[in-house]
Amino acid sequence: MERTQPIYILGIETSCDDTGAAVLAGDKLLANIVASQDVHRKWGGVVPELASRTHQQNMVPVVDAALHEAKIDKAALHAVAYTRGPGLPGSLLVGSAFAKGFAAALNLPLIGVNHMEGHVLAHLIDSGKPRPEFPFLCLTVSGGHTQIVLVEAPLRMTVLGETTDDAVGEAFDKSAKLLGLPYPGGPWVDRLAAEGNPEAFRFPKPKVPGLDFSFSGIKTAFMLKLKDGQSEQSDFIENRKADLCASLQKTLIEILLEKLMQASQEYGIKTLALAGGVSANSGLRTAFESLSKKGYRVFIPPFAFCTDNAAMIAIAGFYAFLEGKTEDLGQAPQARMPIARANRTT
Ligand code: KG4
Ligand code: ZN
Repeated sequence: MERTQPIYILGIETSCDDTGAAVLAGDKLLANIVASQDVHRKWGGVVPELASRTHQQNMVPVVDAALHEAKIDKAALHAVAYTRGPGLPGSLLVGSAFAKGFAAALNLPLIGVNHMEGHVLAHLIDSGKPRPEFPFLCLTVSGGHTQIVLVEAPLRMTVLGETTDDAVGEAFDKSAKLLGLPYPGGPWVDRLAAEGNPEAFRFPKPKVPGLDFSFSGIKTAFMLKLKDGQSEQSDFIENRKADLCASLQKTLIEILLEKLMQASQEYGIKTLALAGGVSANSGLRTAFESLSKKGYRVFIPPFAFCTDNAAMIAIAGFYAFLEGKTEDLGQAPQARMPIARANRTT
């Protein structure tokens, strides 16, 4: 039967340190509110206990603001989607408890979403721009993950390769910390890199089998470079900050794109998408976009859908809802919640 009324989904995101609520009408965005938590800045990283307490403070106002901006009454909603995992247990607990309470009070179906699938599915939100066709490969790059995902349908995705140690976002953030930059350091490295020479320093690229990644070595190489530099020149970091950032960023981007090219070749897929917080990086966006000159179809999400947000959780919820994949109130949040890994033959 043809539906005349759109399906309204409320999305809730609390996996780390951003409290998000969004409302979709079908695949169209009506509201996407994110309250970022500044309390972590002075600690140089996310403090889990502070994150969950701040989620508790932000949750109701953020949901209220999303419904207000969407101009719909909560009674019009068809389902509530929330991030079930992966993420910080205390943070996930706040979002899941809120979503359950809200769904139970309004007698709405509840949908637990995988945060990493959400990052990928942000590409399916109708933002007026072309969207990737299936199958596509998604390079998901965030503070906690680095993955190449084969996406065959909204609810059918498999991980082809992932990091064996640090995520690329961590490589950005930890290196930035060594430079004395504030947390999170990724955006600072991005800004400084724009003023530096990417050829100034060389960092070794790891040799990891298959489609997996490793970023812990480059972080160590970066640290050693700083030590060496400082032993010769006490204000080395201050003088060469932009060059260090540009060279580091260039190497990280090369590592990512070389593996993505390898995956594209192995799987014969030339439709490529970028997702996750690090896809906000301007160097990565430019390098990714330039692949279109080599015959690839490339898709980069709008800025607001790159870092953590609830619109991506709502769109994942929308597709789950279409397939009747709702859950009862008994599901516990999952700090670890891996997407299925492909059985590799090579
Ligand atoms: O997806 P996300 O918002 O949260 C996680 O699920 O991890 O990603 C956060 C990560 C952080 O490591 C942050 O430094 C990085 O994304 N990031 C960037 C930029 N903007 C955010 N890294 C490099 N350049 C940027 N412009
Ligand atoms: Zn994320």
